[in-house]
Amino acid sequence: MHNPQPEVLDLFCCAGGATRGYQEAGFRVTGVDIVFREEYPGEEFHQADAVEFVWDNMEEIRRRFVLAHASPPCQGEGAPAKGTNRVRGNPHPRLIEPTRAALEALGLPYVIENVAGAEIRKDLMLCGEMFGLGVIMHRFFELGWRLEIPQPEHRKHRGRVRGWRHGRYYDGPYVAAYGNGGGKATVAEMKEAKGIDWTDEHLALREAIPPAYTRYIGEYVREFLALERAA
Ligand SMILES: C[S@@+](CC[C@H](N)C(=O)[O-])C[C@H]1O[C@@H](n2cnc3c(N)ncnc32)[C@H](O)[C@@H]1O
Repeated sequence: MHNPQPEVLDLFCCAGGATRGYQEAGFRVTGVDIVFREEYPGEEFHQADAVEFVWDNMEEIRRRFVLAHASPPCQGEGAPAKGTNRVRGNPHPRLIEPTRAALEALGLPYVIENVAGAEIRKDLMLCGEMFGLGVIMHRFFELGWRLEIPQPEHRKHRGRVRGWRHGRYYDGPYVAAYGNGGGKATVAEMKEAKGIDWTDEHLALREAIPPAYTRYIGEYVREFLALERAA
């Protein structure tokens, strides 16, 4: 039987922060990650290298999916880490270029998500305050294959990220959803701040983007696809 629900492929899906947002926007989501996580909320999961998965399954992906989303690890992307790709044994290989090459070969609309220092086109920037969340977590999105998503207004932050910095405690409406200790957010605080209720894994919670970000993107992807169909 024909499945009317449009499908998103979520590469580097981790515990599924991005996946959940696309689901909330009405998509069926298949995740790919090198690490299996039992709590992953997608409808389907493949444990594999994400870039190899795309090259190995090009035809089927083109047939099944309407959008490919990719969140390559950002640890290799900060300015001090750049250029270390060629160092043998580097634990954080830079995956953006090979990911983009695979997605361009695929020829589907795509979204690559990453941090400010990453070498992606900054077509869209999202901040937790745009969605009334308890994290700031600025993230940038490269949109591929004619996909356009309106940039929401970057509203003034309501205050500081709470926690210790240089021996002083600052209070504020946002939690520090990175690192460990030193006033950084607890598991419960991160879940509440990001709107995630299906995992308690500290690292996965730190890495997850708030589902509100991809719900926003997904809603516009549906409009974009409807316009493409009508054209
Ligand atoms: C930044 S996290 C993604 C967070 C996710 N978008 C979310 O919202 O929850 C990056 C993920 O990439 C995975 N990863 C690292 N190298 C990979 C590779 N070569 N292929 C597939 N997944 C990989 C890691 O296991 C990690 O789960």
